Amino acid sequence: MKGIILAGGRATRLRPLTTITSKQLLPVYNKPMIYYPIETLIKAGITEILIIIAPDYSGHFLNLLGDGRDFGAKFSYAVQKEPKGLADAFIIGADFIDNDNVTMILGDNIFDQDFSQEINNFKSGAMIFARKVEDPKRFGVVEFDKNMKAVSIEEKPESPRSNYAVVGLYTYDNRVVEIAKNLKPSDRGEIEITDINRIYLEKGELQVNIFDTLWEDAGTFDSLLHVSNVMAQKEKAKQVQG
Ligand code: TTP
Repeated sequence: MKGIILAGGRATRLRPLTTITSKQLLPVYNKPMIYYPIETLIKAGITEILIIIAPDYSGHFLNLLGDGRDFGAKFSYAVQKEPKGLADAFIIGADFIDNDNVTMILGDNIFDQDFSQEINNFKSGAMIFARKVEDPKRFGVVEFDKNMKAVSIEEKPESPRSNYAVVGLYTYDNRVVEIAKNLKPSDRGEIEITDINRIYLEKGELQVNIFDTLWEDAGTFDSLLHVSNVMAQKEKAKQVQG
């Protein structure tokens, strides 16, 4: 299983914080944001990781993270010139993925969960994770039938069919590369990971795992502050426990 961290983008919602640096290098309490997705992948047993970054500040990622040795991992890097959409990760990463399966995590998504069991058990198809949220309109939304089988998936719907948001951690078999290459941009001009997930859903090969531990998309001032506070409390509790 290969890993990709998608850490490009424009981060317009965090300006002026992101006028002179990248969102994923901003602090979340005591570490740069990107440490969290790195740790999530490594905890899940994935150590061969491609980090996709925007051209601006790309050298800072190299200075900070190097070849991955300090994390017990192997990092490589690719530059995404324009933010064309989340599905672009599998086009940029095609050579890196080679003939393997791949797990992609967004560089601003923060979890506090060990996904190793699900990821180790993954055989084929697609596996995504969903969490109940109060504002599903901002996300990909997955609808379930009464047996909790996924029946629809929509990107940022006006009228969400459920409160379950698709979070930024996605595992696919090798077919994802060809699927991504054949996507057409959406009305907002991006190639959408939701379209990849819908293709697997229509084949009956989309597994959706629901979880309810911490998940924060740290892309807004409020979510960044919230997750920093949560991580500060956790760190302090750990110190008290000694
Ligand atoms: P978003 O938060 O959707 O986009 P953004 O980071 O550019 O922020 P804003 O909406 O404030 O302008 O992106 C989610 C994550 O995916 C984030 O880590 C950036 C990354 N990303 C890319 O690397 N390339 C892309 O083409 C897109 C769309 C996102």
